[in-house]
Amino acid sequence: MNDISRLTIDNSNLLNDVIGESGISNDEIEALSPRLDNLRAKIDDWYSRSTPHFLNLPRTTDLEEIKRRGQEFARSFKNTVIFGIGGSSLGGEMLIRTLGHHNPRNKVKFYDNVDPSTLHELKEVDWRETLLLVISKSGNTAETLSQFLTVLPRMERWLGEGKVNDHTLIVTENEEGALYELAKRLSIPMIKHPPVGGRFSVLSVVGLLPAYISGVDIDGLMEGARAMAKRCTESNMLDNPAFYNGATHFLHAQKGRSITLMMPYSDNMRLIVNWFRQLWAESLGKVNSEGVCVGFTPMEAHGVTDQHSVLQLLLDGPDDKFVTFLTDPSQRYEGQRVPMRFQDIPAIAPLAGHTIGELFMSEMKATRTSHANRQRPNRTIALLDRDAYALGELIILLEMETVVVSELLGIDPFDQPAVEESKVLTRQYLAELQAMDFSI
Ligand code: PA5
Repeated sequence: MNDISRLTIDNSNLLNDVIGESGISNDEIEALSPRLDNLRAKIDDWYSRSTPHFLNLPRTTDLEEIKRRGQEFARSFKNTVIFGIGGSSLGGEMLIRTLGHHNPRNKVKFYDNVDPSTLHELKEVDWRETLLLVISKSGNTAETLSQFLTVLPRMERWLGEGKVNDHTLIVTENEEGALYELAKRLSIPMIKHPPVGGRFSVLSVVGLLPAYISGVDIDGLMEGARAMAKRCTESNMLDNPAFYNGATHFLHAQKGRSITLMMPYSDNMRLIVNWFRQLWAESLGKVNSEGVCVGFTPMEAHGVTDQHSVLQLLLDGPDDKFVTFLTDPSQRYEGQRVPMRFQDIPAIAPLAGHTIGELFMSEMKATRTSHANRQRPNRTIALLDRDAYALGELIILLEMETVVVSELLGIDPFDQPAVEESKVLTRQYLAELQAMDFSI
């Protein structure tokens, strides 16, 4: 087991040693330990069981099948179009964007909405050189089914009827679902979606197949994920990073900071926030057993762009946020150097001779310091070299933090009853629309 961590977490600006009364203490964190005893037992089971669970995906996912299919697709097609929504697309897209991989021989594009003007561009797709990946755990999601059904006649025109199956792969779990039925009727190959909720499925075929087609190092990713999953089985509060971090969120929320703001200083990491936002909001926004509505609101800001926007609110507005900065310190050495010219101009003098990366990192340091100076809680997570191993560690850590917070809140992180209600209503409204007469 490789337990080298490429993730550095600086929690000091959450603690009262640094931010005084606004902070929390290790004693308070340790005091929450008995409340996690039930979770400890569940974690041991999730980690060691042979059937897939989000925590054991790094061990149970069949990487060889993903690589075999991925290599075949990357060889046979120039483009990959992916239909899926929520957990069926956010993870894969995040992996590709964060790790900056673009396989020039196979361009991967995700469609996670039904905005007609965006879907219009599918009219331009040459299906002879394109793979279609349709991902839906339930196989009944209206958006994904509609995307697939509306593109199908065009695929049949390009490829000939009965040939769509050579260009399509379906990932679904539910054998009663519409997608499963369509796959059978059209003889389209299928891969089983694991029995894991969409937002926890990134380390399965759902996220890994698109990532592999795009050239992401999925072995490194899973190695990092495995190492973090092991660390998250530690029983001691201070040694288990998920217990520790989950407790810090919970304690700061008790001090009125229930907005979780994530601010990456890296354009490549922006989609980590997108993915995390779903994980955090859909897992934690619930009604608990006492009928109380609980949850932490995720918010995003981008360094440095939002230093000229929401930073004013973060520093002088209400003290209701817990801020996470995401960064890659090696960016310091990246980018062009500002030439040693025009140094007599005061605004240029401090820039001259520095790389753009140095400016980037200095701005982040300034933002962290301004937060600490105002006793605003913040932590910094650094992904060294933004590599696959570090991202694998981060994914498991954020998933486990979410689960720890859900345990402290007394809710189930794996269901989404309100989302289901909206799915049912959409179908109902569509049915009513059909009955309407639109003729003049
Ligand atoms: O995390 C979840 O469970 C949801 O966001 C789902 O991923 C989303 O609703 C899509 O569902 P499905 O994969 O069944 O199409």
